[in-house]
Amino acid sequence: MNEITIIKPDDFHIHLRQGSDLEYYAKESEKQFKRGIIMPNTVPPIVTVNDVNRYRDEILKVTEGFEPLMTFKILPDSDPGIISELKQNKVIAGKYYPAGATTNSEDGITDWKIMKPVLKEMEKHAMVLSIHGEVPDSFLLNRERDFLPILDEIHRTFPKLRIVMEHVSCKESIDYINSAHDHVAGSISLHHLISTIEDVINDTSIKCMPIPKTPEDREAIRFAAFSGNRKFFFGSDSAPHKVEGKIGFNPKSGVYTAPVILPKLAELFYENGVLDKLENFVSVYGARFYKLPLNREHITVIKKPMIVPDEMYGVRPYLAGSEISWSLKN
Ligand code: DOR
Ligand code: ZN
Repeated sequence: MNEITIIKPDDFHIHLRQGSDLEYYAKESEKQFKRGIIMPNTVPPIVTVNDVNRYRDEILKVTEGFEPLMTFKILPDSDPGIISELKQNKVIAGKYYPAGATTNSEDGITDWKIMKPVLKEMEKHAMVLSIHGEVPDSFLLNRERDFLPILDEIHRTFPKLRIVMEHVSCKESIDYINSAHDHVAGSISLHHLISTIEDVINDTSIKCMPIPKTPEDREAIRFAAFSGNRKFFFGSDSAPHKVEGKIGFNPKSGVYTAPVILPKLAELFYENGVLDKLENFVSVYGARFYKLPLNREHITVIKKPMIVPDEMYGVRPYLAGSEISWSLKN
């Protein structure tokens, strides 16, 4: 098979940033995705109905058929009273960042229990809880594993709340999600399907949180994506940072994968003999979990090489300079 046409995918986890760069990032994602769940960790963060509506308008202004699905950031002092209004304004999820876990999360949550009134309202209004699941004080490679008891506690306390453990990066998360009720799902990024900690050591420009881990963890993530398991769907966590911020001591966390996503996923699924599983992973399972209709548009990917640019808009994209054997058909 030298080409595949699939329902136009959704990116269920994306950072589009703000200001003048937003336009580049949004346009890049729009080439491959019909919808995207827009992360709220801008500076300042997206927390109120006004913030959400202003941010959505900014995205709509620079795109054509792209549908931004908005989120809000849960802060320690978030008012449970705004959840119903957020829901009326089509906010699809609330994002829980443990304080200090990743980029722009210093204002996040130190003890999850402080969110209980907010989570109760989210459960009542069928709003999804999106989680960056790491314990920031743990050793880097154990941060996600150590978070799983917290995830389990939240799930048991709010059994009807739909929860996405974002960008899963370790085998234990895959096992936990598989064993949990259908209200718990996992999103999987391109870079956690490809990279390990060794790759990050060799090229710190791909440093991101959660950090890619061992080959065994990557194998478990691949198995979840390749086996047609509807509890796992695609969310890129594409997170651009300018080149200057990615060098020197403690480079910023985040990797800009958006420009290479579908070509690289097609190459990976093809090489593993599971190209037929790609459409469900990027276009169906996530939409079902979020109770969204499937997109009507389609997109074709062909077995034709592309070279990834070294730099785009001052950002070094993931896999910069390498050749990918698939590309978008235009
Ligand atoms: O590496 C990351 N970068 N992980 C996140 O969760 C946030 C993101 C960003 O915003 O740069
Ligand atoms: Zn993210």
